[in-house]
Amino acid sequence: MRTIFWDYDTSSVALIEQSLLPDEFKVIKCSTIEELADAIKRLAVRGAPALEAAGAYGIALAAHQIDCRDVEELKNFLRKAAKFLSSTRPTAVNLFYGIDRVLNAALKGKTVEEIKNIALSEAEKIADEDVVRNKLIGSFGAKLLEDGDTVLTYCNTGRLATVDWGTALGVVRSAIKEGKEIKVIACETRPLNQGSRLTTWELMQDGIDVTLITDSMAGIVMQRHMVDKVIVGADRIVRDAVFNKIGTYMVAILAKEHGIPFFVAAPKTTFDWSRNMDDVTIEERNRDELIYCHIKCKKSLIAPKDVKVFNPAFDATPLKYVTALITDKGVIFPPYEENVPKTLKF
Ligand code: MRU
Repeated sequence: MRTIFWDYDTSSVALIEQSLLPDEFKVIKCSTIEELADAIKRLAVRGAPALEAAGAYGIALAAHQIDCRDVEELKNFLRKAAKFLSSTRPTAVNLFYGIDRVLNAALKGKTVEEIKNIALSEAEKIADEDVVRNKLIGSFGAKLLEDGDTVLTYCNTGRLATVDWGTALGVVRSAIKEGKEIKVIACETRPLNQGSRLTTWELMQDGIDVTLITDSMAGIVMQRHMVDKVIVGADRIVRDAVFNKIGTYMVAILAKEHGIPFFVAAPKTTFDWSRNMDDVTIEERNRDELIYCHIKCKKSLIAPKDVKVFNPAFDATPLKYVTALITDKGVIFPPYEENVPKTLKF
């Protein structure tokens, strides 16, 4: 089953409600862009490639949601919807790619019906492409893994973070599919626990050997030679850094210190090669995520209620820590300044 898809019976965007996992598996349907924006903000749907599909389907949803017969009115509504959906989360560039691509395609339509059809078919194309490119990332990346390897990963980069298959976890899946025995160590990924709640859950569903550690245990497992490779995903790759879940930077430095290859797996649509580290806004999230034991039931305090909090959702890992970038166009090694544009044809 895909993480996010169009429900043709109700003309809504259906998605796996990830904030409930692993307690409960539930698919929700968003019938308005307001509902979809809310799902994005509270991370019911999350992960850069899944957000790309969410943005794309969001424009299709906007086209179906409004009851209007006037082409210009519809186009204006889509432009406003694009702005609104773009304001949900600032860091993952894929969200904007999905929104802009569907918007630009839909604006070429000449009738209301045509605009609706174009928007939906372009969004479906993006979702299908995501699955194809994840498989490509998987097969390119699998060559970097050896039989018997243990891979440490961070956050969730699997089926749940994409339309299907995954980026970093897609590499693990592809290597296993090729017959290699691969084990995974999943960091819990505080504060929202995408590693412990989602990565372990989805790997266990597939029968993949996974061991959970807290983020603060990344050092000891490397020191004890329990990790052969690190593979993470990305929310945005700029000329000098990889933006990914908060804590990735720390893991990258640890990997370098221990001589462990640190790979980043991401599709071409995650690259924002005209920008640098300082140009990117890092999302800062609600203080409640840090002071309550579980954000859903704001009951058990794990910090004094009034404590000062800093809660950035992502960090930037300088590219000098990255051994190679695993993309859907191939594996890219340094020097990135030269090899990224060459491989990705920017
Ligand atoms: O805040 P999230 O859960 O959306 O953050 C997700 C990540 O940081 C992932 O590592 C990244 O999007 C890559 S997913 C293939």
